[in-house]
Amino acid sequence: MVTEAWRARLLKAAAEARERAYAPYSGLRVGAALLTRRGNIFSGCNVENASYGLTVCAERAAVFAAVAQEGPELRIQALAVVGEPGAQFPPCGACRQVLAEFGPEAVVLFQGEGGLTEARLEDLLPHGFRMPEGR
Ligand code: THU
Repeated sequence: MVTEAWRARLLKAAAEARERAYAPYSGLRVGAALLTRRGNIFSGCNVENASYGLTVCAERAAVFAAVAQEGPELRIQALAVVGEPGAQFPPCGACRQVLAEFGPEAVVLFQGEGGLTEARLEDLLPHGFRMPEGR
């Protein structure tokens, strides 16, 4: 669960990051913001590329920014995604896998079928990939 205050802060930070998105190819601007266990907020936006496959999603950009500041011990408490107004925008599968690395217990906020949805990452990504024990 995320408090109402943190939810509002994360959604605001994600909406602000969305304004900085680089999306000349799809025209779909996306922003994400995450709250770390240490209490910091990091945001990211999608950054597209003429070589389409090199595009980075907003959620992963936020995770990478957070790791760059907090280091490998990063734990994600919550993440909010803001996409097209009025459209559903659950995070893509690749981003779920990357988020799971730093917080399988994290809460994810996104526009779902019935409006703003709050789901635990482990419910959004059942059976995610994990390195086999001993590696
Ligand atoms: N995108 C995201 O930023 N996050 C997602 O979870 C899915 C898709 C971006 C990537 C691309 O720039 C645009 O949305 C269309 O796929």
